[in-house]
Amino acid sequence: MNPIEPIVIGTVRELQSWADGMRRSGRRVALVPTMGALHTGHLSLVRAARQYADRVVVSIFVNPTQFGPQEDFERYPRDLSADVQKLKGVSADVVFAPSVSEMYPDGNATWVDVEGTLTEGLCGRSRPGHFRGVTTIVLRLLHAAKPHVAFFGEKDYQQYVVIRRMVRDQLLDVEILAAPTVREPDGLAMSSRNAYLRPEARQQAIALNAALHDVRQLFRSGIRDARSLIHAARRRIRKEPLAEIEYIELRDADTLEPIIEVEGRGVLALAVRFEGTRLIDNTVLEVG
Ligand code: PAJ
Repeated sequence: MNPIEPIVIGTVRELQSWADGMRRSGRRVALVPTMGALHTGHLSLVRAARQYADRVVVSIFVNPTQFGPQEDFERYPRDLSADVQKLKGVSADVVFAPSVSEMYPDGNATWVDVEGTLTEGLCGRSRPGHFRGVTTIVLRLLHAAKPHVAFFGEKDYQQYVVIRRMVRDQLLDVEILAAPTVREPDGLAMSSRNAYLRPEARQQAIALNAALHDVRQLFRSGIRDARSLIHAARRRIRKEPLAEIEYIELRDADTLEPIIEVEGRGVLALAVRFEGTRLIDNTVLEVG
């Protein structure tokens, strides 16, 4: 059987009435928020969502408020019809592709901001206002699609933890789940921004995953302290001449508090620039 084309919806009102209908007929709805330029990582979230719901909505919206003034909002890749075709292949039911004015009517006066450790460190340091933009749009997408469950990628680990906290603090009735990072055959985490890398930088970027591999190996051999684990990652990445390390940090996997040793669950997260292209990756380390 040929897969059916997903329905493309552009307005919040239309999506809400579709979601109301689904809920009335007892169907479970899942939401997968994206900014488009879809790759296998995004599609894996749609597949995971299918396991949890009867209907899957994928939102495609390049959210201006999460980009800094010097960032790539203007040149971020956009190709709605190619994305719809990819989503057809994984049987998504609805593609929600609103305009900026649909999501931010009359400019914007209301922000949702998770404060404190969760947003201050890691990517929050070099991208001020980024997570405020993310939580503000994700709350609106949740109100628009009214899902029972929403899926996020572990690749953006801090984003996932921040959204979980926003949902808890705002008393939202939705389950937030994470799916594992999907990688290229050579280990580089898939990202829409990988397309910016020139061949030489692309080749050197495999150091991120290689560094995480070294960290996991050390951890398995019983090394638990942040200094040694971070040092191992730094040593591996520094071998690449084009790599500029922005941060390599070890944090508690739930609170994102800095830790000096992994006791329960830690996350080693890193951000590295290659000729201006910023890549992130992480690995969760669990004792026991
Ligand atoms: P975007 O970068 O398009 O990512 C959409 C979702 O796909 C996020 O949950 C992200 O973590 C996940 N993802 C990206 N690369 C992945 C990979 N290699 N493996 C598994 N999952 C991956 O993240 C955003 O958009 C935006 O901030 C958004 C949440 C949509 C809010 O605007």
